[in-house]
Amino acid sequence: MWHNNVNVKVVLLGDSGVGKSSVLLRFVDNYFKQDSSPTIGISSLKKTLHVNDTHIHFDIWDTAGQERYRSLTSMYCRDANAVILVYDITSRNSFNGLKAWYCGLKEIIKNSTIIAIAGNKEDLVEREEIPIDEAKEYANFIGAIYAKTSAKSNVGVEKIFMDIAKGLC
Ligand code: GTP
Ligand code: MG
Repeated sequence: MWHNNVNVKVVLLGDSGVGKSSVLLRFVDNYFKQDSSPTIGISSLKKTLHVNDTHIHFDIWDTAGQERYRSLTSMYCRDANAVILVYDITSRNSFNGLKAWYCGLKEIIKNSTIIAIAGNKEDLVEREEIPIDEAKEYANFIGAIYAKTSAKSNVGVEKIFMDIAKGLC
């Protein structure tokens, strides 16, 4: 059957421990690992979503949140179609970190790059440190898509990639 092919490069950014690798593993393999270890450097995984007549081929780059890799990770954002900034909803520190990631990012990305914010660990909502309105307001302010996700309980993960795809098609 005839179909459109769209290639989408996505980069995951955010502080160490917020769950970037876990969100990616959930999206690509529908799997969650409780004892996920910190990412070293950078790696990528692929996944295709089918939306009507369009095959969306995601090439998703998972970066290391640890400080020592910072200069490396920003390089990968230059030609990204979308960047997902991830924070942990139970950590105010990681939300501040996200803002810092965005400040560095806005200097280097193209105007057309879609920004998404993922408030991850939604399953721990009783320990939430950032009111949802505050997070949404910030997303609005920077023109980003906002979604709550849980890699653990599989909430919102596919949706955020779908929303990115819709924004690009
Ligand atoms: P770096 O690679 O160091 O940048 O960290 P990361 O952002 O990739 O975090 P990672 O995916 O390794 O997850 C860190 C820890 O949080 C692990 O113990 C995960 O099991 C846990 N975790 C990730 N996502 C969730 C989630 O949605 N809910 C809960 N409860 N724990 C999560
Ligand atoms: Mg990781």
